[in-house]
Amino acid sequence: MKNPHALRIKKALTLLKDAPRKEALVISSNPSVIRSRDTHYPYRANSDLFYFTGSHAEDLTLVLRPHAADPVILIAPPEDKVKNMWDGAPAPIKPLAKALKAGLLTTHEPVKQIIALLRGHEAVYLQSIEGTPSAGAKLDLSSRSTPLLRNLPATLVDAEQFTARLRLFKDPSEVARIKEAAVITGGALQNVLPLIEAGVAEREIGAFIEYFYKVHGAEPAFGTIVASGASAATLHYRSLSRKLKKGELLLIDTGAELDMYASDITRMIPVGGTTSPELRDLYDIVLRAQLIAIKKVRPGVRMMDVFNAAARELTYGLKYLGILNGNVSQLMKKGAFKPYFPHGIGHSLGIDVHDATPTGQESILEKGMVITIEPGLYFSKPAGPLPACGVRIEDDVLVTTRGHEVLTANAFTKDIDELGMLITR
Ligand code: GLY
Ligand code: MN
Ligand code: MN
Repeated sequence: MKNPHALRIKKALTLLKDAPRKEALVISSNPSVIRSRDTHYPYRANSDLFYFTGSHAEDLTLVLRPHAADPVILIAPPEDKVKNMWDGAPAPIKPLAKALKAGLLTTHEPVKQIIALLRGHEAVYLQSIEGTPSAGAKLDLSSRSTPLLRNLPATLVDAEQFTARLRLFKDPSEVARIKEAAVITGGALQNVLPLIEAGVAEREIGAFIEYFYKVHGAEPAFGTIVASGASAATLHYRSLSRKLKKGELLLIDTGAELDMYASDITRMIPVGGTTSPELRDLYDIVLRAQLIAIKKVRPGVRMMDVFNAAARELTYGLKYLGILNGNVSQLMKKGAFKPYFPHGIGHSLGIDVHDATPTGQESILEKGMVITIEPGLYFSKPAGPLPACGVRIEDDVLVTTRGHEVLTANAFTKDIDELGMLITR
């Protein structure tokens, strides 16, 4: 089988070559980030560098120049025996260069090297991530006066504008990774169920889920959100500081990241197995909105149309609950749902949980995109018959030739009665 990373480099070279001006692309590893003094945050590879190379190296730069005799170049530092003694030897670069048909340049001064390689180009895509050689080259070029720019690119564009065009469309190997990640996420949700009872701390649930990911070779794709009762009204609730109470709904928004690919699932779980009729109504309203939105997903449909389908159903629900009054079309026109449904319908998903997407909600769905569908209703204080609470339901959806495939369909049930039975059994 062809190396998928080499195929992506080939695609990128074609796109760069087809541009009306002479273009290049420069992508570097993420810098290692200090947590405190000499302690670093766990390292994660740069998403774009991984996409094109499959490498987790901490000090690599990839330069693509379709018009050059050597169109693919990797820049790496010379071997550092002392660093290797402390940190372990990194994966060897030579086999990587061979697999990617790349020339290999070794230097302690990658920015200088990048500038030299960019001579004769009119435009270059560079990263903005502080501390990367790519961003260093951007700083160097942008601070040069015109005489010093001679023969160097004067047009500097953010690399994401280029890489998003490719990363938006997932190849079968990427879809397979997301599906595998979702299976692990579903496993964590299934296995954490016995822990979910009154008096248990949210952070205990979160810790178990992240433990489950790690023992299955994955990592959390983002900080696990475990939000019970009123905590669920905070969209990206991070403190996990509350204890569960019987009859409340528990929101768990979580995703395993496997081999650099994220999944992203939100489920609601009734603490103790059952909840109040009012919270049950709220759950059914959000679930209906989610199913209607998912049904809309197919090529040619605007993300905005998917959003509006969900928002309309949520508006009906808010009227049913007595929280909004009036004609549903009028309420939709006024955006009366916005205080209760304040976010978008979803986002691109891939190497990043909020993956590269070039045009946001205005974008038109095309085959190969993977998006989340995650409507929700949030009440920071009691409203109508409801206590302060929040309900969101989220799945990951692939746009296929004729419609869609829910990649998380079998990950974990959305049937709240079935969940109740599993909990009280
Ligand atoms: N977990 C963040 C989100 O659903 O977008
Ligand atoms: Mn999401
Ligand atoms: Mn989520």
